[in-house]
Amino acid sequence: MGERIEQSPGSGKVEQIGEPRTEARLALEDLGDLRRTHYCGELRVEDAGKSVVLMGWVRRRRDLGELIFIDLADRTGIVQVVSSRDRGAQAFSAAELLRSEYVVAIEGTVTRRSPENVNPALPTGEIEVEAVRIHILNTAKTPPFYIQDNANADENLRLKYRYLDLRRYPMLRNLELRHRAVKAVRDYLSSLGFWEIETPMMTRSTPEGARDYVVPVRNAPGKFFALAQSPQLFKQLLMVAGVDKYFQINRCFRDEDLRADRQPEFTQIDIEMSFAGEEEVFSLVEGLLGYMWETVLGVTLPVPFPRTTYREAMARYGTDKPDIRFGMEIHDVTEAFRGTQFKVVADVLGRGGRVKALVAAGQAGMSRSQVDALVEKAKEYGAKGLITLAYLDGEVRSPARKFLSESELERVREMSGAVTGDLVLCVAGEDVPACEALGKMRLDLGRMLGMIPKESSAFLWVTEFPLLKVNEDTGEWEAAHHPFTSPVPEDLERFEELARTDRGAIRARSYDVVLNGVELASGSIRIHRRDVQEKVFRVLGLNEEEARKRFGFLLEAFEYGAPPHGGIAFGMDRLVMMMAGAETIREVIAFPKTSSGTCVMTDAPAPIDREKLEELGLEIKKPDAGRSGPSD
Ligand code: AMO
Repeated sequence: MGERIEQSPGSGKVEQIGEPRTEARLALEDLGDLRRTHYCGELRVEDAGKSVVLMGWVRRRRDLGELIFIDLADRTGIVQVVSSRDRGAQAFSAAELLRSEYVVAIEGTVTRRSPENVNPALPTGEIEVEAVRIHILNTAKTPPFYIQDNANADENLRLKYRYLDLRRYPMLRNLELRHRAVKAVRDYLSSLGFWEIETPMMTRSTPEGARDYVVPVRNAPGKFFALAQSPQLFKQLLMVAGVDKYFQINRCFRDEDLRADRQPEFTQIDIEMSFAGEEEVFSLVEGLLGYMWETVLGVTLPVPFPRTTYREAMARYGTDKPDIRFGMEIHDVTEAFRGTQFKVVADVLGRGGRVKALVAAGQAGMSRSQVDALVEKAKEYGAKGLITLAYLDGEVRSPARKFLSESELERVREMSGAVTGDLVLCVAGEDVPACEALGKMRLDLGRMLGMIPKESSAFLWVTEFPLLKVNEDTGEWEAAHHPFTSPVPEDLERFEELARTDRGAIRARSYDVVLNGVELASGSIRIHRRDVQEKVFRVLGLNEEEARKRFGFLLEAFEYGAPPHGGIAFGMDRLVMMMAGAETIREVIAFPKTSSGTCVMTDAPAPIDREKLEELGLEIKKPDAGRSGPSD
């Protein structure tokens, strides 16, 4: 008897194999008194003999003529249902009508499968359910893509039919994992006396530095709320209020360039504590993450996490979020080139530049074209060029060989720790850009050479970020974290001098949690003294009046007894992405925006009616901007 596999949906294409649907015979039933006794995926061999009522979706139907097999699915998993005319005539007639994703209730008996029919790929594979009655609760159109574990549909199609995409087990598992992670956060922080407090989403512009999403207000034409980029100011006010220990699992809104780990609206675990310094924040966070990994993933995290300062991270890894699952650190080999005849390098050194090096272990045998590709990559990453030195047995092969002396080559080898068989990559240039270029090369090479252990979780604290940075668009100095971050005590002592001579060198009491090269969280010990706050505002070029205009309510609150306080905020989506081993945060958000910031399911953002615009006192400047929504 030939096996007929039921309809096979392809992307957008509707195909119907098997008997034509006999709508006339198909009578939908209501749930009535019928109630589920078990979830599909939970049935085991111990349940053999039990009468059960299951409810779910027909994931697959195989019609063998005298026998019809149904893979019945609910959120727990799949169980095989078998229907034969002699065991249940009603069930068999109904089974003949079933199609993919029909919603059914099945009354039946759990039976043990014979050994040759056991399916080891399914947790329920030792049993099946013999259908006695099948109630068809609803029909379904052919889905635009297979509901199967491997997502082979285009992501936009998946997002348009997100409810079908979420029906796939990897996605359901991500949702469940996220639920458990959120619960772990609430349990852990509550057990330590933290209170969960909601703060406004509609507020004034907050100081995170992205563009705001704004909300026009009907009763106040021409005025707008900004959607909170974070609860930063409110959580500090809660400290002034004496709340002492606060947390919130809150939504943030930021209009910024999107990437795999960025969404315009995302979730934070936001934390603030009074009378606390770095050590209290660090141990709280290590405890929290340890608890989450233990309860959700069953993994014990080694704590405390290693720490590195921002400067050290930049020097050793060329990034402020190093992936320390593998070594391959950057070395400073400037001194090997002092007095060099190699003009390009001599010029860089003459301008105060440095020479940085990376050792690709065992790669001295790389082909010319592979080396050329590395040089191209380095340029793409901002290096002016890349000097490659292949340390072979008895010789050093390099396109720059004729410009370099024996002693220079030997010193580079010593300073970088290279051995015979290694390829050394050198970048000459300004300190930070040279390190950054090599930092990116390090990640590429680490991946290419299989040096990154996939399963490990390498947490790291990065501390003492610069207090100030230059805004790339305006060229002006601005707060690197936000303007309420404390400078480190030594730098506060020489604040005026540093502000005059070397602003970029002022260090902040700020810290990030990095996991496998991803920034998970950011925080700082805040300024609570007015004199310090004024100094920082001054160096930011904010005079009293401007500061009052932007953050007046906070500054005023600080005059009523602000305790020393500090905190941190985790990107919850990133945290769950890492826990789930997902590639993007979109995989762990039920209804994310596309990578261009739109929702293809609801077709938002969308134009609004002219009357509504008028009510809000708004006018659309571009004539067609109000008519057509963005396309993705
Ligand atoms: P920060 O702006 O660094 O700090 O944000 C904290 C963490 O939030 C996550 N994150 C994002 N996740 C997804 N999409 C985005 N667009 C996005 N932007 C940020 C990151 C980041 O580490 N108020 C301060 C925290 C504090 O000082 O306590 C703040 O919001 O994981």
